[in-house]
Amino acid sequence: MRIMSSPIKASHGAAYSRILGVGGARGNRVVDNAEMCTIIDSSDEWIQQRTGISERRWVDDEQTALTLATEAARKAIERSGVATDQIDAVLVSSVSNERRFPSLSVQVASELGLDNPAATDLQAACAGFCYGVSLADSMVRTGSAHYVLVVGVEVLSKQTDFSDRSTAFLFGDGAGAVVIGPSEVPGIGPAVWGSEINTGEIIHSDEFEVAVAGGFSPKIHMEGNKVFRWATTYIVEKTVETLEAAGLTPEELDVFIPHQANNRITDAMLRRLKLPDDVVVSRDIKMMGNASAASVPIAMEALLESGEAKPGDNALIIGFGAGLVYAGQVVVLP
Ligand SMILES: CC(C)(COP(=O)(O)OP(=O)(O)OC[C@H]1O[C@@H](n2cnc3c(N)ncnc32)[C@H](O)[C@@H]1OP(=O)(O)O)[C@@H](O)C(=O)NCCC(=O)NCCS
Repeated sequence: MRIMSSPIKASHGAAYSRILGVGGARGNRVVDNAEMCTIIDSSDEWIQQRTGISERRWVDDEQTALTLATEAARKAIERSGVATDQIDAVLVSSVSNERRFPSLSVQVASELGLDNPAATDLQAACAGFCYGVSLADSMVRTGSAHYVLVVGVEVLSKQTDFSDRSTAFLFGDGAGAVVIGPSEVPGIGPAVWGSEINTGEIIHSDEFEVAVAGGFSPKIHMEGNKVFRWATTYIVEKTVETLEAAGLTPEELDVFIPHQANNRITDAMLRRLKLPDDVVVSRDIKMMGNASAASVPIAMEALLESGEAKPGDNALIIGFGAGLVYAGQVVVLP
């Protein structure tokens, strides 16, 4: 049946949205490659050459995904200047919730004393933060929320298979958060996002029931070579598309913050993007390892705190990982 008119009201929001504040939190334990090589058969030289990682951050006994997410979110809200009772939606992306429910989003909202916001978790692994940014952008522009807290948080040290030396040295623990709200000018470019069907086994975790029955916690398994090839071919093209979708030339970009998975992947992206030498490129992986959904916002905070990047800079961000899935956009830094 064709509906010619409808009594349903539709919401309308701001013309544009932007990131208003960013915050990060890192695991307190610094685990350098020397310590890692007491756990796996490897060397500092091999790990640095293959990935760029010198050390990674792991949670200490007091830290959890919830404490990290709350710390990062609190900083992001303070820096945004938005009152806590104005945050009307929370999106947390994570593969590290210790329980299937309640969601981390509701727990973070509770810890921060927010005013009963809409709250839900996302699961897009290492692309999760960038998925959250585009969903929040849509929510603000359609009027379904005014100020959205987007968090990426991971505690991957608890999910690492230390019997697999090809992945054990990669992962780190942390959280990054942003507040996204209305803007008079575009502050978040179009999403370039998608998935690769039939690739679920390339990066996967153990099934919960199998792990419980076996008396262990679910661990991450990855065919690193296949991910590496996908990232350095398909995802490299997606970085170019993301820049084009925002209508920018390489000369108009100020900052590049790819998912911190491997410096050699970042190098492949740079070769294809042909960015000018003065574009600031995040290499946060060196001190952090791969913190999945947290990696992009933590790196964003670090570049702003060090002064390498400035508020108002145009930054290309892109995440990619288990699914396989990816998402990227150009954002104006807060
Ligand atoms: C994980 C990763 C760093 C491994 O690097 P790689 O160059 O692909 O390494 P390979 O697994 O092919 O192994 C190459 C050799 O190094 C050895 N090796 C593997 N891990 C090692 C380690 N920790 N130390 C020393 N040698 C190691 C292998 O045994 C192999 O030796 P061989 O050639 O004699 O068989 C790389 O594949 C990668 O970064 N993949 C992408 C990960 C990613 O982007 N994830 C994103 C989503 S989370």
